[in-house]
Amino acid sequence: MVHKPVLLYETIDSIIGDANGLYIDCTLGGGGHLQELAHRLGEKARIIAIDRDADVLEQTSQKLTDDRIKFIHADFRVLKQLLDKDECGNADGIVIDLGVSSFQLDTPERGFSFHSDSDLDMRMDTSQKLRAWDVINTFSEADLANIIFRYGEERFGRKIARAIVQERDKKDINTTLELVEIIKNAVPAKYRREKHPARKTFQAIRIAVNDELGAVEGVLPQAIEVLKPGGKVAVITFHSLEDRIVKKYFIAKSRNCICPDQQPVCTCGGQKAEIKIVNRKPIVPGEEECLSNNRARSAKLRVAQKI
Ligand SMILES: C[S@@+](CC[C@H](N)C(=O)[O-])C[C@H]1O[C@@H](n2cnc3c(N)ncnc32)[C@H](O)[C@@H]1O
Repeated sequence: MVHKPVLLYETIDSIIGDANGLYIDCTLGGGGHLQELAHRLGEKARIIAIDRDADVLEQTSQKLTDDRIKFIHADFRVLKQLLDKDECGNADGIVIDLGVSSFQLDTPERGFSFHSDSDLDMRMDTSQKLRAWDVINTFSEADLANIIFRYGEERFGRKIARAIVQERDKKDINTTLELVEIIKNAVPAKYRREKHPARKTFQAIRIAVNDELGAVEGVLPQAIEVLKPGGKVAVITFHSLEDRIVKKYFIAKSRNCICPDQQPVCTCGGQKAEIKIVNRKPIVPGEEECLSNNRARSAKLRVAQKI
């Protein structure tokens, strides 16, 4: 299935400034946002497109040949290192569209999908050591329960973690469908009839394997740093924990002083606001978009502008 970009126009509209400026797409994926960005920019614009998934990068870069675009296989967590000296502090706009792309979900052997059988992998960057197999077969029951409960917001996290440990004590759990069966058997029958019972656990394991929350925390300060004054960063999240990280970071960096409100005297040294929050409330997709793209339902877009 082709990846449908979420909040496409809202995102691109919110970051476009100089039509011949420098733009960065930190999460290339299927290139939906990139394509729209390229379409709206002038001949002299430059766009840096990053993805940590080499297969995604190859597929999309072949589809989108354009001299203005430089494709880079990397983790956006090292954003600053990927830019030349003259690019750092000169970006007009940055897009960060978190999560997985349809290409990853639809490639069974990558192990992201609970619908098809594959090795337990789920790595976005296949050169990384940690795979879903390691999380499932070697993490402690407490860690598994915590991951499934927090990252998956799965109320049966403890039960599922217990069942995983009981099964792996008999033999290693090697495939996605083995894991699905264990989850199905661990949750109440009523729950099995609602949404797919493995959906939340798979999301949780994927977030842990790819340290997705750590990546967001890592990229935000660099995104602000590489923008030029007036430049904007747009972040689309699909998970409440991700959104909280972005919201808190934007609030903290938009304040001139970070002392608690009730403190009478400033002791933080008078931090200077680095950004202005463009939208106090996150922008969310309308009903029409949610109806045509299920993935859009949990999306939230936050935008900040460098001062
Ligand atoms: C939701 S998709 C992006 C979709 C894209 N905006 C589009 O319109 O087609 C997210 C992409 O970001 C990539 N990604 C996730 N975390 C990353 C990271 N830390 N560094 C670089 N790429 C990352 C994933 O591999 C995936 O291809």
